[in-house]
Amino acid sequence: MTTLSRIQKLVAIAVGGAGGVAVYLYTAKRDNASVYNSWTTNTVVPDEAKWDFNWDHRDPKSIVKPPSKHATEDEINSYNEKLEAVKPKAVRHLILIRHGQYNLEGLTDDQRYLTETGRTQANLTGQRLKVLDVKWDKMIRSTMTRAQETGKIISTELAMNLPIENCSLIEEGAPIPPQPAVGHWAPEPAQFFQDGARIEAGFRKYFHRANVKQEKDSYTLIVCHANVIRYFVCRAMQFPAEAWLRLSLNHASITWLSILPSGRVILRSLGDSGHMPPKYITSR
Ligand SMILES: *[C@@H]1O[C@H](CO)[C@@H](O)[C@H](O)[C@H]1NC(C)=O
Ligand SMILES: *[C@@H]1O[C@H](CO)[C@@H](O)[C@H](O)[C@H]1NC(C)=O
Repeated sequence: MTTLSRIQKLVAIAVGGAGGVAVYLYTAKRDNASVYNSWTTNTVVPDEAKWDFNWDHRDPKSIVKPPSKHATEDEINSYNEKLEAVKPKAVRHLILIRHGQYNLEGLTDDQRYLTETGRTQANLTGQRLKVLDVKWDKMIRSTMTRAQETGKIISTELAMNLPIENCSLIEEGAPIPPQPAVGHWAPEPAQFFQDGARIEAGFRKYFHRANVKQEKDSYTLIVCHANVIRYFVCRAMQFPAEAWLRLSLNHASITWLSILPSGRVILRSLGDSGHMPPKYITSR
């Protein structure tokens, strides 16, 4: 039984008998039902902590013109029908895979091919995705060699007729200056200027709620790179994008995000490599 607080005890004594028990039960129940911020003294939610439902500019309310203040009942009904007609129905699952370990000595992209370990990692992730028994609808691969190779091993392992697309928007790069900054990694401002716009374009291309015509949930594999995936996760979760470098992803790990018809987004796994024997788990 929960212990009574000093005040509850005083109240119980004051009221006495059955009345006291009733007061105790009432206050105990109320405490269980309320959740307080333990680290703040008020309940004001800062604006930047609030979820923006129109983050992808596909919120039905942002697409359909609202009725005027003096709208007739017919006009309001027609507005509601139009709203219903553009409401998405399906969930879009985006499964982001980091490429496997690669030859760090390579100077050009084509010399930065997967190592033996990298190929095994891709193979193990392919096997993992296969046993999940999901009907993958397509695979999108970054055009860089290590992502192409990783994607190829995975699609071979999946052994299904998987449509494949190449995409250079999701090549590796410098998405946005990180907070806090780190000394050992400091690209030129121009690099962020250039890569940031490209990687953000990749985000807008792939991250949005389902089109209203999409009937069934979709499962799309995107094989790309650690900086790109970390930036996408922060953007999709509406965390500050500058936080991306605080996350770490293992080679060939699985990051799973689901975009619901309502515009909510769920991060189901981040950098999962639990399907690999420990000797194959690497991140650099
Ligand atoms: C993955 O590894 C298994 C076991 O070594 C092998 O039989 C299979 O051919 C590999 N798959 C690919 C796509 O390399
Ligand atoms: C993707 O690019 C690779 C490497 O250039 C090429 O071999 C492959 O055919 C391309 N795939 C598609 C679907 O365009």
